[in-house]
Amino acid sequence: MNRTMNEYLKIDPWKIVEERFDAARMKSSESLFALGNGVMGGRANFEERYTGPTLQGNYIGGVYYPDKTRVGWWKNGYPEYFAKVLNAAFWIGVDISIDGETLDAAQVEVLDFYRETDMRRSVLTRRMRVRMRSGAEVAVEAVRFLSLARRELGVVSYSVTPLDRAAEIVFSPHIDADVRNADANYDEKFWEEVATEEDAVRSRTKKSGFEAAWAQAVTLEGAEFRCETTPERVRHRAAVRRGPGERATLYKYAGICSSLNHAPDDLVAAARAVAADGRAAGFEALLREQEEAWAARWHRCDIRIEGDAAAQQGIRFCIFMLLQTYTGVDTRLNIGPKGFTGEKYGGVTYWDTEAYCLPFYMATAGREVARELLVYRYNQLDKAIENAAKLGFRDGAALYPMVTINGEECHNEWEITFEEIHRNGAIAHAIRNYVRYTGDAAYLAEGGLEVLVAIARFWAQRITWSEARQRYVMLGVTGPNEYENNVDNNWYTSYIACWSMRYAAEAAAWVREHRPEAYARICAKRAFDEAAETAVWADIDRRMYFGEDRERGIFLQQDGYLDKEQLLARDLDPAERPINQHWSWDRILRSCLIKQADVLQGLYFFGDDFDRETLRRNFDFYEPRTVHESSLSPCVHAVLAARLGDMAKAYELYLRTARLDLDDYNREVGEGCHVTSMAGTWLAVVEGFGGMQVRDGVLCFAPRLPEGWRSLEFRVDYRGRVLTVRVQPGRVEVTNEGAPVEIVVLDRSVRLVDRIEIAL
Ligand code: BGC
Repeated sequence: MNRTMNEYLKIDPWKIVEERFDAARMKSSESLFALGNGVMGGRANFEERYTGPTLQGNYIGGVYYPDKTRVGWWKNGYPEYFAKVLNAAFWIGVDISIDGETLDAAQVEVLDFYRETDMRRSVLTRRMRVRMRSGAEVAVEAVRFLSLARRELGVVSYSVTPLDRAAEIVFSPHIDADVRNADANYDEKFWEEVATEEDAVRSRTKKSGFEAAWAQAVTLEGAEFRCETTPERVRHRAAVRRGPGERATLYKYAGICSSLNHAPDDLVAAARAVAADGRAAGFEALLREQEEAWAARWHRCDIRIEGDAAAQQGIRFCIFMLLQTYTGVDTRLNIGPKGFTGEKYGGVTYWDTEAYCLPFYMATAGREVARELLVYRYNQLDKAIENAAKLGFRDGAALYPMVTINGEECHNEWEITFEEIHRNGAIAHAIRNYVRYTGDAAYLAEGGLEVLVAIARFWAQRITWSEARQRYVMLGVTGPNEYENNVDNNWYTSYIACWSMRYAAEAAAWVREHRPEAYARICAKRAFDEAAETAVWADIDRRMYFGEDRERGIFLQQDGYLDKEQLLARDLDPAERPINQHWSWDRILRSCLIKQADVLQGLYFFGDDFDRETLRRNFDFYEPRTVHESSLSPCVHAVLAARLGDMAKAYELYLRTARLDLDDYNREVGEGCHVTSMAGTWLAVVEGFGGMQVRDGVLCFAPRLPEGWRSLEFRVDYRGRVLTVRVQPGRVEVTNEGAPVEIVVLDRSVRLVDRIEIAL
């Protein structure tokens, strides 16, 4: 692998390792070493005081603040606020002083530094040897994790060892609830104190009224703690004396509970109980629980690559971050584009979830977890209908928001809020994807059909009949390629609109036939007249306009695309890339350069509808014009290149996604990691190199290895079984832990009992 960009982190198959202290990289490392347990998470801030540049971040999934919208030119239909998952109390704090001097890596001399995340068990370890201003040398070891087995527990062990002389060490474990978001629109503080007690603090979010409590329980051998708690700041203090080489270790157990799961008045008691139970179990036992819980997670989803150590670490990091971000235990939670690694994108939900993340969770966490993601949107259906009504749509048409946490739209750039409506199609596609992969068609009766009907109704109202063309057209949209706004007949949007209407009709027929009671209930609840509405949808589908260039044999991204100067990405001066940082916005809009997969996104989703030659022609035309300035783009192109057998291209594109954050290609990882695009990396491996697809209700593999890889092994959970696919040059082996299953390997149908091997 070409690692010219940034060879800062050590390559290791299971660990992320940093071997020196570089204050300039502090924020990047805080993102890369972030921890999460699916319901809460936080950046890898130091436990002890640090006065250098840092972005403090601790987040509780689902706890948000509606930050009043800030725009230059208000437009009707804009939302009033942008929901932000908040920076919450800093629970990890352990201040240290050595013979009266504060330990602060920005102020003392850092002699050695080592930090690692052990991805196998989600444990962050940091070791430092420092020379204090007094000249005293001390060694520090801090180990931290967010328990996966006990979702409200955070654990820290913090050791200090004087090295060259005896010293008095003061440990001050603390929780600081007086925190702010760096990205507050009006510099407001979002939290207000409810109560602070000796060992616990309870706060409430302004406006949204969420409450949370944090409590700490601490132990330190031979120490007596004194309480120094002040409003919003829980703090204990103990001094111990240690000789050279003698270690003092503080264990801190923090209970972190929110009103999502507890009555507000019970919060302090609940947080205290979590912390006390943690202390009673003890650090070592909790660590073992953590190892077991994570081993069980990895068992279903690990990917092994032999022959490319950097790619191995890259894909594990992506899987690890996804596992840390979302585990499907709570339908109110979802996958923010930056997960729990930073404030950007506000921790809220985008189409990224349906278009990119769902397949990962479906194939690694099982049907129930994947279903939670669909239920999230089902639960927000009425809000999506209200959202569409605000924009003038009626009769139960739904427009899902571009950005949301509770179902209300938060995005406020007109070209996206009102026009990037393809997101609705991704939500319909996710339902089909889920039903196709899991076989759980019953979901259509339980929620899927209602969502599909409401989406189809939206499309049926959003199109326009063109007298001139004698066709339906789709005016004024923004496709996935946000470097074009307000275009007509964006091929992808029109295609997914028609497809959504066809699928809604298919789903209605299935529910009518197989679940008549549910069908009757849905028709009554949603005033659904199947015959009349599906007839309209079918007519639109039949007479929809799709731009094509017959000579080139390609679909046209939108009307007028070929009028543009036909530049290719490779013709650009490298100094002008990314163009969004160098070109004026109008120049970008006028250019033919494409931010992210658009026509090709459609050919990826609906691959079965097109032959290989069509894919080839469109890929050859659009890929050179795509600048991939969204992290969600190269993975889609990688899958398509692999489907076309263009392995060198597939690998080149894969590299752009796999180590995007580890190697900080875009020099922006300090803001947080690209968590949703990590699911795209998984797609590039499993659907690209593994060639996994469901066709006609059967799971198919068509593996193809990039050059240099000695083997690729991945696991997927398929309808309750764990299948392990191991690909080596010339052969593929599939093993099955579970009931026998029909699969297709390279167009050969096989009944897989426990193991098969096939020559490639
Ligand atoms: C992309 C969108 C995406 C969003 C959040 C944008 O840059 O263009 O497609 O939904 O980031 O990841």
